[in-house]
Amino acid sequence: MDTTVHEIAQDVYRLSTCIPDAAPGGFTFNQYLIDADEPMLFHTGPRQMFGLVGAAIERVVPLERLRWISFGHYESDECGAMNDVLAAAPDAEVVFNGLGCMVSIGDMADRPPRSVEDGDVLDLGGHRVRFITTPHVPHGWEAQVLFEETTSTLLSGDLFSQLGEPPALVQDIDLVTPSFDAEAMFGYTCVTANTAPTIRRLADLAPRTLALMHGPAFAGDCAAALHGLADGYAERFAASIDAVVVR
Ligand SMILES: [Fe+2]
Ligand SMILES: [Fe+2]
Repeated sequence: MDTTVHEIAQDVYRLSTCIPDAAPGGFTFNQYLIDADEPMLFHTGPRQMFGLVGAAIERVVPLERLRWISFGHYESDECGAMNDVLAAAPDAEVVFNGLGCMVSIGDMADRPPRSVEDGDVLDLGGHRVRFITTPHVPHGWEAQVLFEETTSTLLSGDLFSQLGEPPALVQDIDLVTPSFDAEAMFGYTCVTANTAPTIRRLADLAPRTLALMHGPAFAGDCAAALHGLADGYAERFAASIDAVVVR
């Protein structure tokens, strides 16, 4: 098992480890490293993968230079190695929305996190990331995604999760069908009336690249892919309503 490193947009690196036994055909766990004046890591990976991920970071920037750590929600593959990274990078801070800081991160992180709110932009020096709260999408009260404005890359976390070990960067392929195959297997999304509208708001950003946590990075018609994903969840939500028997 090893961790591969690919630049999927200018200065945005996908660190990817495929766990063969996690699902049929394997399952990738990706982190994204933005190489800026103040480098940011989005997803730390699980605590037990820190050796692999830390070595992969070092192929791009010295680990001790990391300045910012963020992720999508409080979960092992998102932030399991958060405190290992904080220990290795003395100037690093976790930056997350206020709800996440209040509910989990303020307590679980070894150093106090920096709290931001929906729409806030952090200037990394050469790159800028916008924080977008997405409560319960795909799961987690505190859920968020990041939009790297300089390259129009949406760090989309668990959205579009798929099985297998795809190439680092793909173009104009169907992301939606394999995502709903994984959804059928894992049931990882909390499907509510807000799911599809939240995803459609991400489409409004018109990203040029989608950076998946479990799958490839995708360059192509990202808005169409996001609307396709939203359509599928809207159908599932409608079906769940129809399934309710009112007596
Ligand atoms: Fe998750
Ligand atoms: Fe995940």
